Amino acid sequence: MPAPLGLLAELTHRCPLRCPYCSNPLELVRAAQELDAATWGRIFAEAAELGVLQVHLSGGEPMARRDLPLILRHAVQAGLYTNLITSGVVADARRLAELVEGGLDHVQLSVQDALPGSADRIGGYAGGHARKLEFARAVRAAGLPLTLNAVVHRQNLDRLPALIDLALELGCGRMEVAHVQYYGWALRNRAALLPTRAQLDAATATVAEARERLRGRLVIDYVVPDYYAQRPKACMGGWGRQAIVVSPAGRALPCHAAEGLPGFTFPDLRHTSLREAWERSEAFTRFRGTGWMPEPCRSCDRREQDWGGCRCQAFALTGDAAATDPACALSPQHHLLDLAVQEAAEATDAFTWREMGRSPAPAG
Ligand code: SF4
Ligand code: FES
Repeated sequence: MPAPLGLLAELTHRCPLRCPYCSNPLELVRAAQELDAATWGRIFAEAAELGVLQVHLSGGEPMARRDLPLILRHAVQAGLYTNLITSGVVADARRLAELVEGGLDHVQLSVQDALPGSADRIGGYAGGHARKLEFARAVRAAGLPLTLNAVVHRQNLDRLPALIDLALELGCGRMEVAHVQYYGWALRNRAALLPTRAQLDAATATVAEARERLRGRLVIDYVVPDYYAQRPKACMGGWGRQAIVVSPAGRALPCHAAEGLPGFTFPDLRHTSLREAWERSEAFTRFRGTGWMPEPCRSCDRREQDWGGCRCQAFALTGDAAATDPACALSPQHHLLDLAVQEAAEATDAFTWREMGRSPAPAG
């Protein structure tokens, strides 16, 4: 039985931004259903006991929780390394100071683009980019390490060199160049967001050059997106192998999108211990390891490297969460990705912003 290393605590689904690739589920948890700070405290203590080292305080926008300093204190008391994942648009200096005093270890800030006008359009929040930069400077002034998380797609990938410059200018030690994952809202907006092959090749070359030039100054995490890869990534490091996500209402999930999969009952941590959920729940064990795999995964020599790819992508594209991830060239449904690339080549840049309480119009 592997021990989980990280806990992603989704404190709320509330968020002032409306990104068209939002990875939160289509059915969002309302504020009244959110776990209280004391319950988060119990979960953090159980996580530490289980072997978890890091907690990512995430959302939605975790700063939307007024009791965030109290929740942070519980995580610090549990002995966890604390990382705040934020959009940075609702923070102010006083609230940041409270978190710094509370023992926050690290901040991860998302940006939508390097160009303010485009960034504000993509995030659906006027003035948001300027607020992010202000927040980033306050984080660095407070002495906290900062990671810049740039979510990239067709409409901003050409600015990757400028995004890397921005990370440097803000004093980040690490940058994540994260290609959009296409399920949920992002799947409905895929034709407007999927990059071209030429864009991808240019981005990959940009990252290679920057890694060399900035060695010792900036670490850049970058993975080639599934739609142009021959083999899938080990999503979440494998189902139920490295990480636990806890939804705002207290459901333990193997990944942040798992609630979109049918036929699952995810453990309710109001009534179930984290250890019970991790070790014995059907939800965590169903796709753990290799025993569940169909061919061609079952007899493939990469099955313990990528663990069959992403279950949520398999479901989104084939309707079967147990299918081989179509991102794999060995999947009988790999052609679905080629069709998506063709569709994107003919599409405009119009997309649908994420809205609380509303599902996007059906794709196609
Ligand atoms: Fe991974 Fe399955 Fe493809 Fe092999 S066949 S590379 S295990 S997804
Ligand atoms: Fe759910 Fe990949 S996002 S398994």
